Amino acid sequence: MSDQTFQTLGEFIIDKQEDFKYSTGELSRLISAIRLASKVVNREVNKAGIANIIGQAGNQNIQGEDQQKLDVLANNIFIEALSQREVVCGIASEESDDFIEIKATNNAHLSKYVVLIDPLDGSSNIDVNVSVGTIFSIYRRVTEPGTPVQMEDFLQKGIKQVAAGYVVYGSSTMIVYTTGNGVNGFTLDPSIGTYYLSHPNMKIPTSGKIYSINEGNYIKFPQGVKDYIKYCQLEEDDRPYTSRYIGSLVSDFHRNMIKGGIYIYPSTSHSPKGKLRLLYECNPMAFLAEQAGGKCSDGYRRILEIQPTELHQRVPFFCGSAAMVTKAEEFMTKAVKP
Ligand code: AHG
Ligand code: MN
Ligand code: MN
Repeated sequence: MSDQTFQTLGEFIIDKQEDFKYSTGELSRLISAIRLASKVVNREVNKAGIANIIGQAGNQNIQGEDQQKLDVLANNIFIEALSQREVVCGIASEESDDFIEIKATNNAHLSKYVVLIDPLDGSSNIDVNVSVGTIFSIYRRVTEPGTPVQMEDFLQKGIKQVAAGYVVYGSSTMIVYTTGNGVNGFTLDPSIGTYYLSHPNMKIPTSGKIYSINEGNYIKFPQGVKDYIKYCQLEEDDRPYTSRYIGSLVSDFHRNMIKGGIYIYPSTSHSPKGKLRLLYECNPMAFLAEQAGGKCSDGYRRILEIQPTELHQRVPFFCGSAAMVTKAEEFMTKAVKP
Protein backbone atom coordinates (compact mmCIF):
# COMPACT_ATOMS: atom_id res chain seq x y z
CA MET A 1 0.00 0.00 0.00
CA SER A 2 1.14 3.57 -0.63
CA ASP A 3 1.73 6.05 2.17
CA GLN A 4 -1.79 7.36 1.63
CA THR A 5 -4.02 6.65 4.64
CA PHE A 6 -7.12 4.69 3.71
CA GLN A 7 -10.17 4.30 5.87
CA THR A 8 -11.07 0.70 6.63
CA LEU A 9 -14.55 -0.62 5.91
CA GLY A 10 -15.01 -1.18 9.63
CA GLU A 11 -14.25 2.48 10.38
CA PHE A 12 -16.45 3.61 7.49
CA ILE A 13 -19.45 1.61 8.74
CA ILE A 14 -19.14 3.16 12.21
CA ASP A 15 -18.80 6.69 10.77
CA LYS A 16 -21.82 6.29 8.53
CA GLN A 17 -24.05 4.89 11.24
CA GLU A 18 -24.74 8.43 12.41
CA ASP A 19 -26.27 9.24 8.97
CA PHE A 20 -29.29 7.16 9.88
CA LYS A 21 -31.83 8.71 12.13
CA TYR A 22 -32.75 6.53 15.11
CA SER A 23 -30.04 4.07 14.09
CA THR A 24 -29.69 1.18 16.48
CA GLY A 25 -26.54 -0.11 14.80
CA GLU A 26 -28.43 -3.12 13.49
CA LEU A 27 -27.73 -2.33 9.83
CA SER A 28 -24.06 -1.74 10.67
CA ARG A 29 -23.88 -5.18 12.27
CA LEU A 30 -25.59 -6.70 9.27
CA ILE A 31 -23.11 -5.15 6.82
CA SER A 32 -20.27 -6.27 9.06
CA ALA A 33 -21.58 -9.84 8.90
CA ILE A 34 -21.61 -9.67 5.09
CA ARG A 35 -18.07 -8.26 5.18
CA LEU A 36 -16.90 -11.20 7.28
CA ALA A 37 -18.68 -13.84 5.16
CA SER A 38 -17.22 -12.33 1.99
CA LYS A 39 -13.71 -12.81 3.37
CA VAL A 40 -14.42 -16.46 4.06
CA VAL A 41 -15.85 -16.96 0.55
CA ASN A 42 -12.84 -15.09 -0.86
CA ARG A 43 -10.53 -17.55 0.87
CA GLU A 44 -12.44 -20.52 -0.59
CA VAL A 45 -12.62 -19.02 -4.10
CA ASN A 46 -8.89 -18.33 -4.02
CA LYS A 47 -7.95 -21.91 -3.31
CA ALA A 48 -10.70 -23.48 -5.44
CA GLY A 49 -8.27 -25.22 -7.80
CA ILE A 50 -6.51 -27.14 -5.03
CA ALA A 51 -9.34 -27.81 -2.62
CA ASN A 52 -11.59 -30.16 -4.61
CA ILE A 53 -14.35 -27.58 -4.60
CA ILE A 54 -14.57 -26.85 -8.29
CA GLY A 55 -17.09 -28.64 -10.45
CA GLN A 56 -20.72 -29.51 -9.99
CA ALA A 57 -22.31 -30.42 -6.69
CA GLY A 58 -24.56 -32.96 -8.43
CA ASN A 59 -27.88 -31.26 -7.77
CA GLN A 60 -29.96 -28.44 -9.24
CA ASN A 61 -31.44 -25.35 -7.64
CA ILE A 62 -35.13 -24.44 -7.87
CA GLN A 63 -34.47 -22.77 -11.20
CA GLY A 64 -33.22 -26.02 -12.73
CA GLU A 65 -29.61 -24.85 -12.83
CA ASP A 66 -26.76 -27.16 -11.90
CA GLN A 67 -25.30 -26.13 -8.57
CA GLN A 68 -21.54 -25.86 -8.39
CA LYS A 69 -19.80 -26.97 -5.19
CA LEU A 70 -18.81 -23.39 -4.54
CA ASP A 71 -22.43 -22.20 -5.00
CA VAL A 72 -23.41 -24.47 -2.13
CA LEU A 73 -20.38 -23.55 -0.01
CA ALA A 74 -20.85 -19.78 -0.47
CA ASN A 75 -24.54 -20.12 0.29
CA ASN A 76 -23.78 -21.94 3.56
CA ILE A 77 -21.12 -19.41 4.55
CA PHE A 78 -23.45 -16.40 4.10
CA ILE A 79 -26.44 -18.07 5.74
CA GLU A 80 -24.34 -19.13 8.71
CA ALA A 81 -22.70 -15.71 9.17
CA LEU A 82 -26.04 -13.91 8.97
CA SER A 83 -28.08 -16.28 11.09
CA GLN A 84 -25.53 -16.80 13.88
CA ARG A 85 -25.21 -13.05 14.42
CA GLU A 86 -28.99 -12.59 14.56
CA VAL A 87 -28.72 -9.57 12.27
CA VAL A 88 -31.60 -10.60 10.01
CA CYS A 89 -35.03 -12.11 10.54
CA GLY A 90 -35.05 -13.83 7.16
CA ILE A 91 -32.87 -14.74 4.19
CA ALA A 92 -33.82 -15.53 0.59
CA SER A 93 -31.13 -17.04 -1.58
CA GLU A 94 -30.76 -18.12 -5.18
CA GLU A 95 -29.74 -21.52 -3.86
CA SER A 96 -32.71 -22.09 -1.53
CA ASP A 97 -36.22 -22.79 -2.83
CA ASP A 98 -37.98 -20.93 -0.01
CA PHE A 99 -36.94 -18.11 2.25
CA ILE A 100 -35.32 -19.01 5.55
CA GLU A 101 -36.76 -17.72 8.80
CA ILE A 102 -34.15 -16.70 11.36
CA LYS A 103 -35.11 -16.74 15.01
CA ALA A 104 -33.14 -15.07 17.73
CA THR A 105 -31.83 -17.36 20.45
CA ASN A 106 -34.68 -16.35 22.73
CA ASN A 107 -37.08 -17.17 19.85
CA ALA A 108 -38.06 -13.53 19.50
CA HIS A 109 -37.41 -12.73 15.77
CA LEU A 110 -35.58 -9.61 16.87
CA SER A 111 -34.12 -8.19 13.69
CA LYS A 112 -36.09 -5.89 11.44
CA TYR A 113 -34.09 -6.69 8.28
CA VAL A 114 -34.32 -9.31 5.55
CA VAL A 115 -31.51 -10.14 3.13
CA LEU A 116 -31.82 -11.48 -0.40
CA ILE A 117 -28.65 -12.92 -1.83
CA ASP A 118 -26.97 -14.46 -4.85
CA PRO A 119 -24.13 -16.05 -2.87
CA LEU A 120 -22.03 -16.87 -5.91
CA ASP A 121 -22.71 -15.09 -9.17
CA GLY A 122 -21.11 -16.24 -12.40
CA SER A 123 -20.50 -19.71 -11.04
CA SER A 124 -19.92 -21.19 -14.50
CA ASN A 125 -16.66 -19.18 -14.42
CA ILE A 126 -15.25 -20.87 -11.31
CA ASP A 127 -13.62 -23.80 -13.04
CA VAL A 128 -11.69 -21.53 -15.39
CA ASN A 129 -10.38 -19.04 -12.83
CA VAL A 130 -12.47 -16.08 -14.00
CA SER A 131 -13.93 -13.54 -11.58
CA VAL A 132 -17.09 -14.42 -9.70
CA GLY A 133 -19.11 -12.40 -7.21
CA THR A 134 -21.77 -12.13 -4.51
CA ILE A 135 -24.80 -9.85 -4.76
CA PHE A 136 -26.95 -8.78 -1.78
CA SER A 137 -30.05 -6.72 -1.16
CA ILE A 138 -31.40 -5.56 2.22
CA TYR A 139 -34.95 -4.51 3.15
CA ARG A 140 -36.72 -3.52 6.33
CA ARG A 141 -39.44 -6.08 6.98
CA VAL A 142 -43.01 -4.87 6.43
CA THR A 143 -44.71 -7.28 8.84
CA GLU A 144 -44.76 -6.82 12.60
CA PRO A 145 -41.33 -7.23 14.25
CA GLY A 146 -41.28 -10.14 16.65
CA THR A 147 -43.56 -12.28 14.47
CA PRO A 148 -42.33 -14.89 11.96
CA VAL A 149 -41.10 -13.34 8.72
CA GLN A 150 -43.50 -13.64 5.75
CA MET A 151 -43.24 -13.80 1.97
CA GLU A 152 -44.41 -10.16 1.70
CA ASP A 153 -41.29 -9.07 3.59
CA PHE A 154 -39.24 -10.30 0.60
CA LEU A 155 -41.58 -9.32 -2.24
CA GLN A 156 -40.92 -5.59 -1.98
CA LYS A 157 -40.22 -3.21 -4.82
CA GLY A 158 -36.54 -2.37 -5.35
CA ILE A 159 -37.14 1.25 -4.40
CA LYS A 160 -37.69 0.04 -0.84
CA GLN A 161 -34.15 -1.33 -0.48
CA VAL A 162 -32.26 -0.05 2.53
CA ALA A 163 -28.88 -1.19 1.25
CA ALA A 164 -27.44 -3.26 -1.57
CA GLY A 165 -24.06 -4.28 -2.83
CA TYR A 166 -21.79 -6.81 -4.39
CA VAL A 167 -18.46 -8.45 -3.79
CA VAL A 168 -16.23 -9.14 -6.77
CA TYR A 169 -13.67 -11.89 -6.26
CA GLY A 170 -11.38 -10.69 -9.04
CA SER A 171 -7.75 -9.87 -9.61
CA SER A 172 -8.35 -8.07 -6.35
CA THR A 173 -11.38 -8.59 -4.12
CA MET A 174 -13.70 -5.64 -3.67
CA ILE A 175 -16.93 -4.93 -1.85
CA VAL A 176 -19.07 -2.17 -3.35
CA TYR A 177 -22.24 -1.08 -1.57
CA THR A 178 -24.79 1.64 -1.04
CA THR A 179 -27.12 2.57 1.79
CA GLY A 180 -28.82 5.19 -0.38
CA ASN A 181 -26.17 7.87 0.06
CA GLY A 182 -23.97 7.15 -2.95
CA VAL A 183 -21.80 4.14 -3.70
CA ASN A 184 -18.47 3.29 -2.14
CA GLY A 185 -15.96 0.61 -3.04
CA PHE A 186 -13.49 -1.13 -0.73
CA THR A 187 -10.53 -3.28 -1.76
CA LEU A 188 -9.37 -6.22 0.35
CA ASP A 189 -5.76 -6.28 1.44
CA PRO A 190 -5.50 -10.07 1.62
CA SER A 191 -2.30 -10.04 3.66
CA ILE A 192 -4.14 -8.64 6.69
CA GLY A 193 -7.74 -9.43 5.71
CA THR A 194 -8.92 -5.82 5.80
CA TYR A 195 -11.05 -3.90 3.32
CA TYR A 196 -9.94 -0.32 2.64
CA LEU A 197 -11.95 2.47 1.03
CA SER A 198 -10.36 2.61 -2.42
CA HIS A 199 -13.24 3.92 -4.57
CA PRO A 200 -15.14 6.63 -2.66
CA ASN A 201 -18.37 8.02 -4.15
CA MET A 202 -18.34 5.94 -7.34
CA LYS A 203 -20.11 7.37 -10.40
CA ILE A 204 -20.93 5.54 -13.65
CA PRO A 205 -19.91 7.67 -16.64
CA THR A 206 -23.07 9.04 -18.34
CA SER A 207 -22.07 7.28 -21.52
CA GLY A 208 -19.51 4.69 -22.50
CA LYS A 209 -18.13 2.63 -25.34
CA ILE A 210 -18.73 -0.90 -24.09
CA TYR A 211 -21.78 -3.08 -24.71
CA SER A 212 -22.06 -6.34 -22.85
CA ILE A 213 -24.48 -9.05 -23.97
CA ASN A 214 -24.32 -12.77 -24.79
CA GLU A 215 -24.45 -12.36 -28.55
CA GLY A 216 -24.52 -16.12 -29.04
CA ASN A 217 -28.24 -15.79 -28.35
CA TYR A 218 -28.65 -13.15 -31.10
CA ILE A 219 -31.27 -14.92 -33.18
CA LYS A 220 -33.44 -15.38 -30.07
CA PHE A 221 -33.37 -11.68 -29.11
CA PRO A 222 -36.32 -9.31 -29.50
CA GLN A 223 -36.11 -7.02 -32.56
CA GLY A 224 -35.38 -3.93 -30.41
CA VAL A 225 -32.26 -5.58 -28.95
CA LYS A 226 -31.07 -6.72 -32.39
CA ASP A 227 -31.52 -3.16 -33.68
CA TYR A 228 -29.63 -1.72 -30.70
CA ILE A 229 -26.72 -4.15 -31.23
CA LYS A 230 -26.48 -3.08 -34.87
CA TYR A 231 -26.49 0.55 -33.70
CA CYS A 232 -23.57 -0.24 -31.32
CA GLN A 233 -21.65 -1.77 -34.22
CA LEU A 234 -22.25 1.06 -36.70
CA GLU A 235 -19.30 3.20 -37.73
CA GLU A 236 -20.75 6.58 -36.81
CA ASP A 237 -20.01 9.28 -34.20
CA ASP A 238 -18.14 7.52 -31.35
CA ARG A 239 -19.12 4.03 -32.56
CA PRO A 240 -18.53 1.16 -33.12
CA TYR A 241 -18.52 0.29 -29.42
CA THR A 242 -16.41 -2.48 -27.96
CA SER A 243 -18.06 -5.75 -27.00
CA ARG A 244 -17.09 -7.25 -23.60
CA TYR A 245 -18.92 -10.14 -21.97
CA ILE A 246 -17.46 -11.97 -18.99
CA GLY A 247 -20.58 -13.92 -18.10
CA SER A 248 -20.46 -12.86 -14.45
CA LEU A 249 -22.99 -10.10 -13.96
CA VAL A 250 -20.97 -8.75 -11.04
CA SER A 251 -17.79 -8.46 -13.11
CA ASP A 252 -19.50 -7.05 -16.19
CA PHE A 253 -21.37 -4.55 -14.02
CA HIS A 254 -18.24 -3.57 -12.10
CA ARG A 255 -16.30 -2.91 -15.29
CA ASN A 256 -19.12 -0.76 -16.69
CA MET A 257 -19.39 1.07 -13.37
CA ILE A 258 -15.78 2.18 -13.74
CA LYS A 259 -15.43 2.58 -17.51
CA GLY A 260 -19.02 3.28 -18.57
CA GLY A 261 -21.06 0.87 -20.67
CA ILE A 262 -24.28 -1.08 -20.91
CA TYR A 263 -25.07 -4.63 -19.77
CA ILE A 264 -28.07 -6.35 -21.33
CA TYR A 265 -29.67 -9.71 -20.53
CA PRO A 266 -32.86 -9.45 -22.56
CA SER A 267 -35.83 -11.74 -22.95
CA THR A 268 -35.23 -14.42 -25.56
CA SER A 269 -37.63 -16.54 -27.55
CA HIS A 270 -36.67 -19.42 -25.22
CA SER A 271 -36.89 -17.46 -21.94
CA PRO A 272 -39.44 -14.69 -22.37
CA LYS A 273 -38.53 -13.19 -18.98
CA GLY A 274 -34.78 -13.28 -19.51
CA LYS A 275 -32.44 -15.09 -17.16
CA LEU A 276 -31.51 -12.79 -14.32
CA ARG A 277 -33.47 -12.75 -11.10
CA LEU A 278 -35.26 -9.55 -10.08
CA LEU A 279 -34.85 -9.81 -6.32
CA TYR A 280 -31.23 -10.73 -5.74
CA GLU A 281 -29.54 -9.83 -9.03
CA CYS A 282 -31.37 -6.98 -10.81
CA ASN A 283 -32.77 -4.92 -7.93
CA PRO A 284 -29.49 -4.60 -5.99
CA MET A 285 -27.59 -3.76 -9.19
CA ALA A 286 -30.30 -1.24 -10.14
CA PHE A 287 -30.08 0.44 -6.73
CA LEU A 288 -26.29 0.69 -7.06
CA ALA A 289 -26.47 1.91 -10.66
CA GLU A 290 -28.97 4.64 -9.83
CA GLN A 291 -27.01 5.69 -6.77
CA ALA A 292 -23.98 6.06 -9.05
CA GLY A 293 -25.92 8.13 -11.60
CA GLY A 294 -26.71 5.23 -13.95
CA LYS A 295 -29.95 3.67 -15.07
CA CYS A 296 -31.63 0.22 -15.11
CA SER A 297 -34.73 -0.96 -16.87
CA ASP A 298 -36.44 -4.02 -18.31
CA GLY A 299 -36.35 -2.29 -21.69
CA TYR A 300 -39.42 -0.21 -20.93
CA ARG A 301 -39.82 0.27 -17.17
CA ARG A 302 -37.59 1.18 -14.26
CA ILE A 303 -36.45 -2.05 -12.58
CA LEU A 304 -36.80 -0.61 -9.07
CA GLU A 305 -40.54 0.04 -9.52
CA ILE A 306 -41.52 -3.49 -10.54
CA GLN A 307 -43.77 -5.18 -7.97
CA PRO A 308 -42.33 -8.68 -7.40
CA THR A 309 -44.74 -11.59 -7.24
CA GLU A 310 -42.31 -14.48 -6.79
CA LEU A 311 -39.03 -15.01 -4.94
CA HIS A 312 -37.10 -16.30 -7.94
CA GLN A 313 -38.81 -14.20 -10.60
CA ARG A 314 -36.79 -13.31 -13.69
CA VAL A 315 -36.77 -10.06 -15.58
CA PRO A 316 -35.11 -8.68 -18.75
CA PHE A 317 -32.28 -6.41 -17.67
CA PHE A 318 -30.74 -3.30 -19.28
CA CYS A 319 -28.30 -1.59 -16.97
CA GLY A 320 -25.40 0.86 -16.90
CA SER A 321 -24.57 4.31 -18.25
CA ALA A 322 -27.78 6.38 -18.28
CA ALA A 323 -27.51 7.67 -21.88
CA MET A 324 -26.83 4.16 -23.22
CA VAL A 325 -29.78 2.57 -21.39
CA THR A 326 -32.06 5.37 -22.62
CA LYS A 327 -30.87 4.73 -26.18
CA ALA A 328 -31.51 0.98 -25.88
CA GLU A 329 -35.01 1.72 -24.55
CA GLU A 330 -35.69 3.89 -27.60
CA PHE A 331 -34.90 0.94 -29.85
CA MET A 332 -37.11 -1.34 -27.76
CA THR A 333 -40.07 1.02 -27.98
CA LYS A 334 -39.54 1.71 -31.68
CA ALA A 335 -39.50 -2.02 -32.47
CA VAL A 336 -42.85 -2.53 -30.76
CA LYS A 337 -44.54 0.59 -32.16
CA PRO A 338 -42.95 1.27 -35.56
P1 AHG B 1 -25.41 -17.39 -11.44
O1 AHG B 1 -24.02 -17.92 -11.56
O2 AHG B 1 -25.66 -16.74 -10.10
O3 AHG B 1 -26.46 -18.39 -11.80
O4 AHG B 1 -25.58 -16.16 -12.45
C1 AHG B 1 -25.12 -16.25 -13.76
C2 AHG B 1 -25.72 -15.12 -14.54
C3 AHG B 1 -24.92 -13.84 -14.57
O5 AHG B 1 -23.94 -13.69 -13.65
C4 AHG B 1 -24.33 -13.83 -15.95
O6 AHG B 1 -24.18 -12.53 -16.41
C5 AHG B 1 -25.28 -14.64 -16.74
O7 AHG B 1 -25.85 -15.55 -15.86
C6 AHG B 1 -24.61 -15.37 -17.85
O8 AHG B 1 -25.55 -16.08 -18.56
P2 AHG B 1 -25.25 -16.67 -20.00
O9 AHG B 1 -24.25 -17.77 -19.84
O10 AHG B 1 -26.60 -17.17 -20.46
O11 AHG B 1 -24.77 -15.54 -20.87
MN1 MN C 1 -26.14 -14.76 -10.49
MN1 MN D 1 -25.47 -17.58 -8.16
